[in-house]
Amino acid sequence: MNKMCYNSIIFFIIKTQLAVHDFEQSCPCTADTLEEFFMQPCNPNAKLETKCLHAGYTPKNGGPGTVPIVQSTTYRFDSTEKVAELFDMPMEPMYSRFANPTCDAVEQKIAALEGGVGAMLTSSGQAASLLSVLNLCSAGDSIVSVSTIYGGTVNLFGVTLKRFGIECIWVDPLADEETISQAIKPNTKLIFGETIANPALTVFDIEKFAKIAHAHQIPLIVDNTFATPILCRPIEFGADIVIHSTTKYMDGHALQCGGVIVDGGTFDWEKSGKFPDFTEPDESYHGVVYTREFGKMAYIIKARMQLMRDFGCYPAAHSAFLLNLGLETLPVRMKQYCENAMAVAKMLKQSDKIASVTYPNLPDDPYHEMAKKYLPNGTCGVISISIKGGREAAVRFMDALQLASIEVHVADIRTCVLHPASATHRQLTEEQLKAAGIDGGLIRISVGLENIEDILADLQQALERV
Ligand SMILES: Cc1ncc(COP(=O)(O)O)c(C=O)c1O
Repeated sequence: MNKMCYNSIIFFIIKTQLAVHDFEQSCPCTADTLEEFFMQPCNPNAKLETKCLHAGYTPKNGGPGTVPIVQSTTYRFDSTEKVAELFDMPMEPMYSRFANPTCDAVEQKIAALEGGVGAMLTSSGQAASLLSVLNLCSAGDSIVSVSTIYGGTVNLFGVTLKRFGIECIWVDPLADEETISQAIKPNTKLIFGETIANPALTVFDIEKFAKIAHAHQIPLIVDNTFATPILCRPIEFGADIVIHSTTKYMDGHALQCGGVIVDGGTFDWEKSGKFPDFTEPDESYHGVVYTREFGKMAYIIKARMQLMRDFGCYPAAHSAFLLNLGLETLPVRMKQYCENAMAVAKMLKQSDKIASVTYPNLPDDPYHEMAKKYLPNGTCGVISISIKGGREAAVRFMDALQLASIEVHVADIRTCVLHPASATHRQLTEEQLKAAGIDGGLIRISVGLENIEDILADLQQALERV
C-alpha cells in the first residue's frame, strides 16, 4: 500500500503534497475516500507535457476523466469526536477556506511542474505575493526586492507593507553582489525578483540573487508568472519559493483570477536561525513547531494553516477547475506565444515609427545572454515597445488597432495591448516609473495565438496611422 495511505498522523494536505514525491507505481492506493480519490500521484520523472495533463489527478478505475469540481464549502462527519480530532490534526478537508480537493489536485500539478515539495493556490497573484512575504515577515522586518517588478507588487511592497511595518529596500537588478549585499540588514527576511519583469522585460539573474540570499541565510522568492514552469523553473537555479499570478499564462483564457505559492523545500529554516516562527511553537496552532512537524514542507504548511486560515483568500473549486484547463495546454501555448512574439518583435524592429523594441529573445537585447541561460526555449509572448512621439503617439497607435484589444490584462490567448504608464503603473511616481523601466511611449504588447499574418497586418496598419 502506498506509504501515504496508512500514515494517519499527518495532515491531509501534507499527504497530498507528499504524493508528488512518494510515487510508488507498484503500490496503488485502494482506500475509497474522497481524499484518496484525488491522491493519485504522477511519476515525478514524467516530462512537463505529461505532468500538465496527469499530475495531481489520475482517475481511478471508472472515475471521471477530468478533475471533479468539489463545489462545497464543507464536509460532513459522523461524530463530534471526529471533528475535534480534525481540529488537532486536519488530515481530511474540513473547510474550503483553506483546502479543497479540486484546488488540491491543481496545487499538486503546479508543485510537480515547478519541482517543489508543495503548493498553495490563492485567489489572485497579489494574494500570492502578499502571503509569500507575510509568511516570513512581521512588523519591524525588511525585504529586499529588485526594482523591475510588476507595478502592483511595487505598490504592495512599497506602500501597503510599509503600513504593516515592513520596509522594502529596492535594488537595481544589475547591481553587483557587494552593492546588493549592502542592502541586506539584520532584519531582512527575503529577496524578491521576477523571472521576466512585467513590463520592463528584464531577465532576473536568479543564480546571482540566490547566492547573495543564501550567504545571508535568507530565502529567494521568484515571481515566475511570465515565464511559467514551461520556460523556466527557478528552483533549479536556486530559488526557494516561487509564486505566480495564475491569472496570466497558466490560465491563459482570461477566465479566472488566481495565484499560487510553491515551496521548493530547499531552505533550511533551522540552520538559518532567522525564522523563529518556523522553529518555535505556534501558539495560534496548538504549539506546532513547523520545522519539527513538517520538515521540508514547513513553509507551505505554515502558509496554509496560519495565513490562509486567517486571511481566507483561497480560490473556489470552480476557479481551480478552470485554471487546470489552462494548465493542460500550457506547453503547446507557450511554444506558440514565443514563436508569434518573435515574429512581431522582428517586424517592429524594422519600423521607423518605433524607438525601441524590448524582447529578451532578440539577439541585441541587453538581457539576451541572461535569457539564453534561464529561458533557452523562449521568453514568452510579451513585448514592450516604445513609440516615437511619446504618450500621444502611443495612444494613437493603440486606438488604431482592430484585432488586438486594449485590455488591463496580459498573457492572454488573444493579442492585447496596454499603456502601463497610464494604467497598471499609474500609481508610480516618475522616479519609480524610470526604475521600473517604463517611459510615456511604452506599450506592452501581449502577443496571442491568432494567425501570425493577421497579428502582423493589424500592427502594421495601426503604425501607419500613428
Ligand atoms: C508578474 C505579476 N505578478 C503578479 C501579478 C498580480 O496578479 P493578479 O492580477 O492575479 O493579482 C501580476 C499582474 O499582472 C503580474 O504581472
